[in-house]
Amino acid sequence: MKEISGVSEHPYRYDSVSRGLHWLMALMFAWIYCSAAAHYLLSDSVLDKTLWPYHKPVGLLLLGLFALRASWSLLNRQHRPPSMNVAASVGHGTLYGLMLLIPLIGLLRQYGSGRAFSAFGVPVMDGFEGEKIQWMIDLGSNFHSLLGWTMLVLIVGHIGAVVLHHRQGNSQVLRRMTGRTHKV
Ligand code: HEM
Ligand code: HEM
Repeated sequence: MKEISGVSEHPYRYDSVSRGLHWLMALMFAWIYCSAAAHYLLSDSVLDKTLWPYHKPVGLLLLGLFALRASWSLLNRQHRPPSMNVAASVGHGTLYGLMLLIPLIGLLRQYGSGRAFSAFGVPVMDGFEGEKIQWMIDLGSNFHSLLGWTMLVLIVGHIGAVVLHHRQGNSQVLRRMTGRTHKV
């Protein structure tokens, strides 16, 4: 928060932790959507076989980073720039909701299947004998992919909104997230 003549002002850019998490996760989302697209469009191709084994581990990592990002944005909420408008608040809020729900539903489906799951060689779930947990499997089958593709549409809209602001001469919006600004 800036303080000029005793009057507190909102910061003009996101702090470095928020910016770092935003761009790291954006890269990982780009990767996970490549794996999902290869799985959907080029099933059993070399590309699918190369990328798909990492879909679940990277998804789990994204959930961990989401927990960090959400906690940090809550703890640090007094020191973040204000929302540009209502549409931006609703859009960012929806992205936060989906960043939580999509991997969580994927993990529930994995658990319900009773199959063991490890990520990057670290055991995450042991798996179990006996009946599968059908409601977890149904939840995953009905909603994981659906919400996953829905979030991709929102991400395209999110990027489109930034480009639109930029074209209308408001380059400040992008700079709030790149950190390259000194103006309020
Ligand atoms: C934020 C992280 C994630 C995103 C954005 C995401 C996105 C997607 C998308 C878009 C699909 C559809 C692919 C298709 O239509 O073939 C998909 C499929 C799938 N995902 Fe994820 N996923 C994430 C995390 C996870 C996690 C953590 C797991 C499990 C531990 C998981 C397990 C699966 C499985 C098993 C499928 C195939 C579903 C099917 O063939 O019916 N995903 N994911
Ligand atoms: C090339 C890709 C991307 C660009 C250029 C971009 C750009 C930006 C910019 C400029 C802001 C600041 C907007 C403002 O202050 O109102 C922002 C914020 C935000 N972006 Fe992105 N973004 C990208 C990818 C993503 C992805 C993949 C996600 C999540 C799925 C995402 C989620 C968010 C969220 C939730 C915010 C609000 C700030 C926060 O709490 O982190 N962005 N983005």
